[in-house]
Amino acid sequence: MRRDSDRIEQGRWWLKDLARQEVDFSSTGQSRGCPVPPIQQPVPPDAVRVALPRYGEWPHVRDISIVEAIARRESRRQFASTPLELDELAFLLWAVQGVRKVVHRAAVLRTVPSAGARHPFETYVAVLRIAGLVPGVYRYLPLEHELARLRTADARALSVELARAALGQLFVGYAAAVFIWTAIPYRTEWRYGVAAHKVIALDAGHVAQNLYIACEAIEGATCAVAAYDQVAMDRLVGVDGREEFVIYLAPVGHRRSAEEE
Ligand SMILES: Cc1cc2nc3c(=O)[nH]c(=O)nc-3n(C[C@H](O)[C@H](O)[C@H](O)COP(=O)(O)O)c2cc1C
Repeated sequence: MRRDSDRIEQGRWWLKDLARQEVDFSSTGQSRGCPVPPIQQPVPPDAVRVALPRYGEWPHVRDISIVEAIARRESRRQFASTPLELDELAFLLWAVQGVRKVVHRAAVLRTVPSAGARHPFETYVAVLRIAGLVPGVYRYLPLEHELARLRTADARALSVELARAALGQLFVGYAAAVFIWTAIPYRTEWRYGVAAHKVIALDAGHVAQNLYIACEAIEGATCAVAAYDQVAMDRLVGVDGREEFVIYLAPVGHRRSAEEE
């Protein structure tokens, strides 16, 4: 009991902006002259790379109004059995993490905001049904607007692995693809030290919200998921669980039509 109430106090403290007043900004990585963390993780040399259709090359994306997209947004957990087109996937990836401006070698601005433009996330995509892509686990490379294929997988086995790692939320395994975001806390800690963690969580919300809104332009379905087995999901995407770990995920697909219900 005591431990629970301590943790609640700790959690509430963390939600406030008190950490900022306690940070010794002279001891952060940036102040000590530590190298700026890379914008994106290196790509394994043997990874197959897939170029994605670029802005404007998205024939399946409807030009709906932002008012309509916001009005219609909702969490949808039922997916059509049809695959997503590659241009639809490219559009969604651009919406969640696309680079809109390279400031310099170590800083980019994206389609989402981020505290101090630190952008602490990587986007992994567990592909189950995307036209032209072999099922497997991929990582989005925002700088190149490409995908790197990290491993191939049997779609059925990957679907089961995803649902299990999502604590039995079966709809996660029925999607056409699952976006799995990892956090690399040091990218933000490098500047903000112990004040980094609250803003990393805030940053993640913006990413998922852009996905929700973008899904409305492809008759898509998505649902933010924060309940998952940390160790299993880290293993699924192949990260170490310390310097990089899963923070949020969202299955995506076309929404199920009335005939499929
Ligand atoms: C941070 C966060 C975590 C969530 N985690 C889950 C989840 O693990 N499983 C799930 O089915 N829905 C999850 N949701 C979706 C919420 O249940 C949903 O947003 C809420 O019921 C309101 O419905 P709406 O999004 O359609 O307005 C999550 C939403 C947010 C914002």
